[in-house]
Amino acid sequence: MAEENKSSLDPLAALCKRRGFIYHSSEIYGGMPGFWDYGPLGCELKQNVKQAWWQFTVRGREDVAGLDATIIMHPKIWKASGHLDTFADPMTMCKQCKKLMRADQIDDIRAELGKKAAAVNPAYALSCPHCGGEMTEPKPFNLMFKTVVGPIDDPSNVAYLRPETAQAIFAQFTNVLSTSRQQVPFGIAQMGKSFRNEVTPRNYTFRSREFEQMELEFFIRPDEAVEILHGHVVTLADNPDLNGPVQDDWGWEVWHKYWVEQRKKFLNAVGLPTEHFVEYWQKPDELAHYARACVDIEYDFPFGRQELEGIAARSDFDLTQHQKHSGESQMVFDDPLKQAAKKLDDAARKAFIEKVQADWVSRGKDPIAAEKFCLNLFDGKYVPHVIEPSAGVDRLMLALLCEAYEEQKLTDEKGKEDIRTVLHFHPKVAPVKVAVFPLVKKDEACFNMAREIFDKLRKKVNCFWDASGQIGRRYRRQDEAGTPWCITVDPESPKDGKFTVRDRDSMQQERMTYEEFLVKMYAALEF
Ligand code: GAP
Repeated sequence: MAEENKSSLDPLAALCKRRGFIYHSSEIYGGMPGFWDYGPLGCELKQNVKQAWWQFTVRGREDVAGLDATIIMHPKIWKASGHLDTFADPMTMCKQCKKLMRADQIDDIRAELGKKAAAVNPAYALSCPHCGGEMTEPKPFNLMFKTVVGPIDDPSNVAYLRPETAQAIFAQFTNVLSTSRQQVPFGIAQMGKSFRNEVTPRNYTFRSREFEQMELEFFIRPDEAVEILHGHVVTLADNPDLNGPVQDDWGWEVWHKYWVEQRKKFLNAVGLPTEHFVEYWQKPDELAHYARACVDIEYDFPFGRQELEGIAARSDFDLTQHQKHSGESQMVFDDPLKQAAKKLDDAARKAFIEKVQADWVSRGKDPIAAEKFCLNLFDGKYVPHVIEPSAGVDRLMLALLCEAYEEQKLTDEKGKEDIRTVLHFHPKVAPVKVAVFPLVKKDEACFNMAREIFDKLRKKVNCFWDASGQIGRRYRRQDEAGTPWCITVDPESPKDGKFTVRDRDSMQQERMTYEEFLVKMYAALEF
């Protein structure tokens, strides 16, 4: 983004509206806060982001299987996951202007309002950033949207729109395991809509009430099982190679860091350079009680550094909760583990149990449960632990738009200045890959050749046809859409079989044949 526009989303939002990337939902009725629609270019960008994630996370690997579950699920799922009891934000209302706000966002709202903010009133524990009035005591507000299933509007029929895609993965864990020929360590991935009744949706699409997530639950052995299998557990202190193939003796810490690195690779591959995001490692007091580590990948949005996605090491919390609430075992049987455990004699087993008990006690856990856990391990049984890389489609799209947006000052040979607005999308995510123009519409051979190229190319990638207006204007329209290449067919083209390819970023033009262009295009689109 150009320096002078770094603090504001306004120019980008104006372009997104003008060019059909993002509209307010239900705009003709005044819109709905926190709901956004993607127009013709926006929905192509979205498809490309999701396809890239699916290719990188599922199809490009042998150890991840996909899932596409329903949005409305059995309400007990949300009891087991903790969402029903604890998925809440602290809500407060101004007694004077009646505005609702998240108590933990009052300082941010005051900063956003800048000079327009009301002065802090020291007489109140919380004073309204809009009018200075007194705010009510913050109360937890559950973020799940409620609905009723079936024709009878009764509390017993209440269900919820899912607030995350992850829980369906846990709920279907045993089905996927028994039908996918996968074995721990392996992952289950899902993309799809999630809904959160955010108190204050803010910053354009950044915090929406309806959005999409791309989540992976990667199931791993507990470290104690790795210890039995290999006699050791690789930790980060061992300096493992995280760029090479995954290893059977990695402990949870290494798997977690491995997925942080994978996510960074993905972000690079879709056009976010490493220098523009940071890893924020949550401090022990910020972690959920079951989590062993959590990294937020934060991006420098124009409105500040904010979470783009997260990678959490969630222990065996989720599957254990579902096991408890559903009464269905979520344990796996790991034959190599059983075979390795058979080789331990009684003394070795006893020493192992004591070591695990000491470790569990040091982490405030029950020694009797530790013994039971070890006995199950000797039988080759355990509830898998999980590493969860969880990303938001819309949030990543917003980061890609911010990253791509530039207002370039250009000066022509005569010294005339001009502004070119361009979206420097990576070709993999660019909504339109190629635009095809006949230079002279009335030249039949030129027109027909351009049309033939367009028809052939659009069977492969998303293309745009534009036969009218000055060629310079046609280029500029594609720059604003982020189209990496424009092909111009001129009256010479039918004679020499070549056309001009104009590169969006360098604005350089090169003549080439159709086959030469295909090679260039495919090289840029490959993962
Ligand atoms: N299963 C874990 C989970 O849902 P989260 O941090 O609440 O974790 C993961 O959400 C990601 O989903 C976030 O990093 C963000 O990219 C996206 N996300 C969450 N809430 C969002 C919202 N209200 N609007 C847009 N994206 C959101």
